[in-house]
Amino acid sequence: MRTWTPMHGQPYQPTPYRPSRMSAKASLAVAADLRRRMGERRTVRAFSADPVPEQVVLDAIAVAATAPSGAHQQPWTFVLVTDPEIRAAIRCAAEQEEQRSYTGRLGEEWLSALEPLGTDASKPHLTDAPYLIVVFEQRFYLDEQGESHKHYYVDESVGIAVGMLLTALHLSGLAALMHTPSPMRFLSEVLGRPRNEKAFAVIPTGYPAADAMVPDLVRKSLDQVIVRA
Ligand SMILES: Cc1cc2nc3c(=O)[nH]c(=O)nc-3n(C[C@H](O)[C@H](O)[C@H](O)COP(=O)(O)O)c2cc1C
Repeated sequence: MRTWTPMHGQPYQPTPYRPSRMSAKASLAVAADLRRRMGERRTVRAFSADPVPEQVVLDAIAVAATAPSGAHQQPWTFVLVTDPEIRAAIRCAAEQEEQRSYTGRLGEEWLSALEPLGTDASKPHLTDAPYLIVVFEQRFYLDEQGESHKHYYVDESVGIAVGMLLTALHLSGLAALMHTPSPMRFLSEVLGRPRNEKAFAVIPTGYPAADAMVPDLVRKSLDQVIVRA
């Protein structure tokens, strides 16, 4: 798969961009509805094994892949994992790492920040959810000759893509969890990814378990996050 910018070395070629203008009324209605629907998004850690149409997940990944990226280098790879053996291997390795983290490696301050979330080293979502989307960031481009080429703003670009992925999954009726077992090197090994790729997150997705519970979190108000200048 050629993942470096396919436009590298090409001259600027402008093309018209003329989207139809939405009325202010329609914009207001869409924005309010989006705000309400996104307000309902929650990180879910207990999944149903009920099947999900794969196309819903593929469409969400396609949405993520439209994200803006530094120099349009699109430095992401989404590994869609359904194989039960691979999911079991990921769960086993993740739980080993998490065990070390929760029994000392994280430190008191980090552990107390996690306290309200009720998380621990047990990660059943890695085998319960019908899909795992493992997101890798391409730290650099590796060409066919094995030479590396710089990618710019990789973390920012992949973070935006993952935000769009979570949004698309939620708006399509699925639950998801942004899971970042630390360290994540085992994901490259289990999934056989090349040396230019670094794991960014494991995102189990599917329907929430019928008895799923979430922490009763309080979000900052708009006034607390907006500063007018
Ligand atoms: C960068 C990042 C890393 C995260 N890592 C984990 C994780 O490893 N395990 C987990 O259970 N939740 C993880 N989360 C989920 C957060 O705990 C969750 O988003 C937060 O508590 C707010 O809850 P909400 O998503 O339901 O609004 C992560 C979220 C982000 C953005």
